[in-house]
Amino acid sequence: MNRITDWGRLPDGRTVHRITVARGGLSLTVSDFGCCITALETPDRQGRPGGVVLGYDTLADYFRDDVYMGAVVGRYANRIAGAAFPLNGRRYQLTKNEGRNTLHGGSGFHKRLWNAEAWEDGVRLTYLSPDGEDGFPGNLAVSVEYSLREPGALSVGYAAESDRDTVLSLSSHSYFNLNGGGPVFGHRLRLEAPAYTPVDSENIPTGEIRPVDGTPFDFRGDRALGSFPYDHNFALSPGGGPKVVLYAPESGRRMTVYTDLPGLQLYTGRGLSPRQGRDGALYGPGMSVCLETQFYPDSPNRPDFPSPVLPAGRRFESRTIFRFDTV
Ligand code: BGC
Repeated sequence: MNRITDWGRLPDGRTVHRITVARGGLSLTVSDFGCCITALETPDRQGRPGGVVLGYDTLADYFRDDVYMGAVVGRYANRIAGAAFPLNGRRYQLTKNEGRNTLHGGSGFHKRLWNAEAWEDGVRLTYLSPDGEDGFPGNLAVSVEYSLREPGALSVGYAAESDRDTVLSLSSHSYFNLNGGGPVFGHRLRLEAPAYTPVDSENIPTGEIRPVDGTPFDFRGDRALGSFPYDHNFALSPGGGPKVVLYAPESGRRMTVYTDLPGLQLYTGRGLSPRQGRDGALYGPGMSVCLETQFYPDSPNRPDFPSPVLPAGRRFESRTIFRFDTV
């Protein structure tokens, strides 16, 4: 089933929509503002449906939001050092929005109104980013498809094409809490990541790809998240198997993540300052976990990292799947 409703208007008068699709126990609500997941419900161990992502009640909350709540971030997820990068012998200067660096694309895709089309069990959102937007080269046609076609799974398919060589890294910035609320310290995490990319005081990668052995970054065995304030990119093992398993013993919900992207930001929301969320819930640090599949941060300035360059005229396609069950 699907349901499309008007959600309100932007200050410039354009109408924003909310779209709900449901299938086989999963219910997903997205908005065309920010290509955002505003709600995702899955059954718990007893079969009772409940929310697994943080969100707000109103469009005004999303308009004001400063933490990329549920949004698709782009053109470049995470940070680009010095808000600049070289490509084809030219230097591109980007919008600075975190000190002297660029975070999540600058003014970003999360504040754009996308075009939405929905069907029985899916929604496709498209956005045309003009050449030079936030400083990035190329007219970029981007689409994000949220699909519940596979029972129990949310599949996020990214596609894009540019008319000039450019760089691209799209990510979904959902804040997961598999108990629906409360701290996530007891969530258990497994990450197929033998290494991570250490950062400096501005959260810019130093360039090193450091093995996780013997550090708090080693999640190759299953263990509790704990209270360490994670905000780090992991180098995922190659191959098609599951890259992340997140499990909440309380609710019994388990989420298994598959992706073809090389990196994943593990972020436990240290920057999520206390605020009111959906249905009066209070949110703060340590109450959710973001698992942002991505190219490594600052790759446009790091020839040693997997390349995020999208050549002109070539179609970019990538998929991240969030599969839910209970144990
Ligand atoms: C980044 C954090 C940042 C947050 C913004 C995350 O993807 O890794 O450093 O504070 O986004 O909400």
